[in-house]
Amino acid sequence: MSTTAAAQGQPVASLALDAPLTIALSKGRIFDQTLPLLAQAGIRPLEDPETSRKLILETSNPQVKLVIIRASDVPTYCEYGAADLGVAGKDVLLEHGGEGLYEPLDLRIACCRLMVAGPLLPPTPRSGRLRIATKYVKSAERYYAAKGQQVEIIKLYGSMELAPLVGLADLIVDLVESGNTLKANGLVPLEHIADISSRLVVNKAAWKMKHAAVSALLGVLRRAVAGRE
Ligand code: PRP
Repeated sequence: MSTTAAAQGQPVASLALDAPLTIALSKGRIFDQTLPLLAQAGIRPLEDPETSRKLILETSNPQVKLVIIRASDVPTYCEYGAADLGVAGKDVLLEHGGEGLYEPLDLRIACCRLMVAGPLLPPTPRSGRLRIATKYVKSAERYYAAKGQQVEIIKLYGSMELAPLVGLADLIVDLVESGNTLKANGLVPLEHIADISSRLVVNKAAWKMKHAAVSALLGVLRRAVAGRE
């Protein structure tokens, strides 16, 4: 069990940083689950992104800003140095490719699985090749290429579960957490592709140029993650 000050409800002194840091986060689950980890470094946003329309949030540490962006944009902001650090799901990183980024810490939040799912009865592909609907095109291509199976991938941006129901695809590749969305749509998980969790990513130039500040924050986050185990 964690014995840190934050875990015991005591105020945590803000981390002393010798350089400004910008951290990219997406709203929702990743933001909510990253906040307690940042709080261990005494970093708290001064506004709530759910109620504020601001995209840059100041924090209780004057050296730290949060930029609030779409989950799939986090690696791009970090790759180009628009953010020094970010929190991104492994699903997003697998699609992005991870260029220009270090991935030094598994935050072990927002855990789920990337899976092939579909109807309980095996589908009979119309054209000889299975049609797979997904927004994880690269991961799906890699998975089926590794199996030596030729498939047709159909790119979608959401609500993948609908595709087999309306005949758009035979199967889907999607994230599964509780399995409730699949169940509610009469689908079942079929094949496990990867375990997914959110990772801390760091711009490679920031890693060098702001090494002391990045290392200090990384150290606190690493201890915070270990303390929750
Ligand atoms: C994800 C995923 C599934 C659902 C799985 O969607 O795409 O639809 O969660 O969760 P469950 O197994 O607990 O039911 P999300 O709600 O993140 O929205 P998205 O469609 O925009 O990805």
